Amino acid sequence: MQMSQALVDLAPLVPAGTRMVIVHGVATSTRQRLASLLPEATVHDLTDLADLADTAGTSGRAGAEPPVGADVAAGAGPVHGAGPVRGAEATAGAGLAAGADLAVMEVASHVGQARIAAELLKLAYHLREGAVLLVVTARRLGSARQLNTLEGMFGAAEVAQRSGSAVVLRAVRGPEVRATADATAAAPTVEAHLLGYDLRFTTGAGLFSKSRIDDGTRLLIEALPPDHNWLDVLDLGCGYGPIGVAVASRWPQVRVAMADIDPAAVSAARTNAGLNGVGERCQAHLSDGTSALADRRFDAVLSHLPTHVPKSTLARLIDESANVLRPGGELIAVTASAVDLRDRIASTFGAVEVLAESQAGTTPPYRVVHAVKTEQPRR
Ligand SMILES: C[S@@+](CC[C@H](N)C(=O)[O-])C[C@H]1O[C@@H](n2cnc3c(N)ncnc32)[C@H](O)[C@@H]1O
Repeated sequence: MQMSQALVDLAPLVPAGTRMVIVHGVATSTRQRLASLLPEATVHDLTDLADLADTAGTSGRAGAEPPVGADVAAGAGPVHGAGPVRGAEATAGAGLAAGADLAVMEVASHVGQARIAAELLKLAYHLREGAVLLVVTARRLGSARQLNTLEGMFGAAEVAQRSGSAVVLRAVRGPEVRATADATAAAPTVEAHLLGYDLRFTTGAGLFSKSRIDDGTRLLIEALPPDHNWLDVLDLGCGYGPIGVAVASRWPQVRVAMADIDPAAVSAARTNAGLNGVGERCQAHLSDGTSALADRRFDAVLSHLPTHVPKSTLARLIDESANVLRPGGELIAVTASAVDLRDRIASTFGAVEVLAESQAGTTPPYRVVHAVKTEQPRR
């Protein structure tokens, strides 16, 4: 967190007797302060927790009813307005859901109120009645709007602390939580026919191509070889998971790892694997490049590469792809044609070929490229 969070004193805001904490987007320093204030407590990261679609039984877990309204946050169904999130009895046995005593979220940059609201709703889902939610933010990041959102969700909220530029908002979870309009707006659903399957994706504010499957993504999916011997596939920069989920749906022998640096993307990808019935074989990881998967090996790395990143990052993603591929493994990547990575890929893999290009008139035009790891990568 870049703002002067060191000024925030969490000690008076942390309820006595807190045993279970859930955090989202918090800096390491905040996590360390929580750990020293609450040495007995367990701390979970929202990104690592089962998503709401999982608790609705889509990943095979039985006995947990989806909380009304919470499915809005996860986009697990049609948006149906505000509803109460039911209490612990409705979600008992569904992982951490409705079990935490305290949630702490840091809003570090302008990510958009819709996304913040959707994430708050997810946090609320994991809180027991009477639990405390703290949002550490700053005035310049729209703390007043966030306070409004909290009031809409929890009935009441307050500014609990101001310190320098930092503001801490506090709300207590009552018997119900209401999904506010901004939270529901954050979770559009995309339906798409990919590789012969009708698939449904919950997306979210701030995610890449949140309203439709991107043309480049579709071009890559349609360019995949129909016959292959892949068992382990990495979807690098998975976003909300269209590539990984489509591959896992089409080829039931394939295990897919989806990786993204954005916690919201990872959360959505995980939800979408469950929604489409491939959650067992298609897992999402929070990872900068392949950092969280460096010990795994894959038969194919599929990637709609990010382009709004430094060239050095793209180069690293290409090299890391080569490193996690087995000999004979394939990299299939798409970028806007203007971002021509062929030379860079060839310098790592030895050769590169074009698998597909957008039809004339597509804006922006895309190019799908293919490279095979024939030997140890050159870099
Ligand atoms: C062009 S989007 C593609 C998203 C998704 N695969 C799709 O096709 O809709 C690129 C994705 O890469 C992710 N990304 C950017 N930098 C990354 C990095 N260093 N490591 C992993 N993912 C990254 C972004 O968060 C974004 O979700």
